[in-house]
Amino acid sequence: MMYFDHAATSFHKPPQVAEAVYQSFSKIGNAGRGAHAPTLNAARLIYDTRQKLADLFEISDASRIAFTSNATESLNIAINGLFQAGDHVITTVCEHNSVLRPLYRMKQQGVELSFLPADEKGRMEYDKLKEIYRENTKAIVITHASNLTGNVTDLSIISAFARRHHLLLVVDASQTAGAIPLSVKEMGIDVLCFTGHKGLMGPQGTGGIYVREGIEIAPFKVGGSGVHSFDHEHPSVMPTALEAGTINGHGIAGLNAALAFLLETGVEEIGRRERALARRFIDGVRNIPGVILYGDIDAKMRTSIVTLNIGEEDSGQISDILWEDYEICVRAGAHCAPLMHETLQTVHQGAVRFSFSYFNTEEEIDRAIAAVRELAEETGEEVI
Ligand code: ALA
Repeated sequence: MMYFDHAATSFHKPPQVAEAVYQSFSKIGNAGRGAHAPTLNAARLIYDTRQKLADLFEISDASRIAFTSNATESLNIAINGLFQAGDHVITTVCEHNSVLRPLYRMKQQGVELSFLPADEKGRMEYDKLKEIYRENTKAIVITHASNLTGNVTDLSIISAFARRHHLLLVVDASQTAGAIPLSVKEMGIDVLCFTGHKGLMGPQGTGGIYVREGIEIAPFKVGGSGVHSFDHEHPSVMPTALEAGTINGHGIAGLNAALAFLLETGVEEIGRRERALARRFIDGVRNIPGVILYGDIDAKMRTSIVTLNIGEEDSGQISDILWEDYEICVRAGAHCAPLMHETLQTVHQGAVRFSFSYFNTEEEIDRAIAAVRELAEETGEEVI
């Protein structure tokens, strides 16, 4: 089997990730719920994982990071907790439904929304920011990279605009955390949402949210926190403020091992290899007759996503054949990115998304190129 669906979830993880999850079952109790060895082991593990995340994203105070179950939960916390009727929020057509749907729900409650458009290659039209800015604009909620095209957002432009207009900057790093260096400090990010199971190579069910000091987010859920049990209100101090209930300690044990691997190997190095594999694939398929590639494929900084169609074939059909005849795993269809598909005019056909990981090999890429070539030839013959 060849797994090229890293953007949906990383499948090949460093072996120490599974080992750490397994070991955690005989080590950890419930963090912050006592003073016996298992609960302290859990607390230490969670503390250390927060610290590793802080190192990764250049966050000066690790206690500003709360654990969640995925980026969707983090984005829901941010979007529901930051905005009120009468606020205007800028987002983009490159967003995933994990940003769009919470925003649409806020729109029903009186929040105003504007979308930064993108061109035919899915590149954001940054110069339109000033046209959509309003007096009541409160924030920009933006992805660091499209999960459909692999285009990376130029956060320095967005950040400068946000600073100039005193806007909150909320960044969805679902597709870049662990693959592209990201400094919260350098980019002036106010809220960062990330998942643990994609580029961070941890288990599913792990993720987090960073909230800059000075920003208070009304919590999405409240409940047990292990402290101040007699208060009616959930504690407002981070990270407890956003961590009601038992957190996923066993998953975080795996995330911790994954982060150790990432920090040791280096995000730059991981990204460099993933981009090299994607580049090899792009160069191998771009001149095959019938193959249509989407996104800014010649940009220097991209994620490892390469999205294509073959003629007018349905993307689901192509991905089924890739799996059944070649044992190649890709994702087809709409990728929960409806506005991006509208922009690329692929609403009906969908698109076939390949996304490569650090652990894929050149040989696998060459076999994928050969598979696409064969399919394109067969499809071409059918048309003739
Ligand atoms: N958001 C994930 C993807 O893009 C699941 O496939």
